[in-house]
Amino acid sequence: MEICRTKSDIRTAVKQWRAAGESVGLVPTMGFLHEGHLTLVRAAKEACDRVIVTIFVNPTQFGEAADLDAYPRDEARDFALLEAEGVDAVFCPSVDEMYPADTQTTVVTERLEKMLMGELRPGHFKGVCTVVTKLFNIAQADRAFFGEKDYQQLLVIKTMVRDLDIPIEITGVPTVREVDGLAMSSRNVRLTPDDRKAALILNKALAFADYEVSDGRTASELEEAVRAFIAKEPRAQIESVDVRDAATLEEVTGQITAPVVILLAARFGDVLLIDQRVADPT
Ligand code: PAF
Repeated sequence: MEICRTKSDIRTAVKQWRAAGESVGLVPTMGFLHEGHLTLVRAAKEACDRVIVTIFVNPTQFGEAADLDAYPRDEARDFALLEAEGVDAVFCPSVDEMYPADTQTTVVTERLEKMLMGELRPGHFKGVCTVVTKLFNIAQADRAFFGEKDYQQLLVIKTMVRDLDIPIEITGVPTVREVDGLAMSSRNVRLTPDDRKAALILNKALAFADYEVSDGRTASELEEAVRAFIAKEPRAQIESVDVRDAATLEEVTGQITAPVVILLAARFGDVLLIDQRVADPT
């Protein structure tokens, strides 16, 4: 496995593969890899001849410096996991390599940027879009793989690729869960044992919502019912519960008649967790 720390190193590797007619898959990550990331890697390996994983804790998508500092990192462990998966190259640039002095250009998906998680964390998706565009331009891959757990992020990236005619195919990969149902996340290691147990309420709330969606409810009734369900867990501090059109993330008025996505964000201690599920009322 090649470890590339500069743009020119990764470009050289990709150039050789392309010259040999090989397809290239890209898995962008912020490291501290878990089974969810490895599932993306396996999907990429199945679909492409060569796979690049990027590890970059992108400062521009963090609102609070404390959150960025607390983000877990373990490069040696990440490399060992990726080597075992048969990854061809890992791109792990420094902040200066990605954002040289006087960097001034950003990428924004105007409407999606301002809603839901974007409203809670202003500037977050601008940071994501900008770094992902840069990674796409640097790696020149044919396909890129992202988890469906970050539902809004996936939609934002698909929209950006469509709007800017970026020549890459985006593949969403279903959420991987622990055996007890907690969605895998690099943040889970920061949960206390009590909060780890309490966080199971999120997956339970999604199962509840899935059941309730076919019951002729309106979106706002469903949101209220899901909030009440999560509130039964005293350790959960709800940040948001949203029931939105699954294709556009627009608000749903009246009875739910088409697929919706239920998006949850809640803090357990100081750890913000998100989870989601698409539910079809038909
Ligand atoms: O989902 C993530 O880990 C990050 O938002 C991404 C896509 C790697 C961009 O920094």
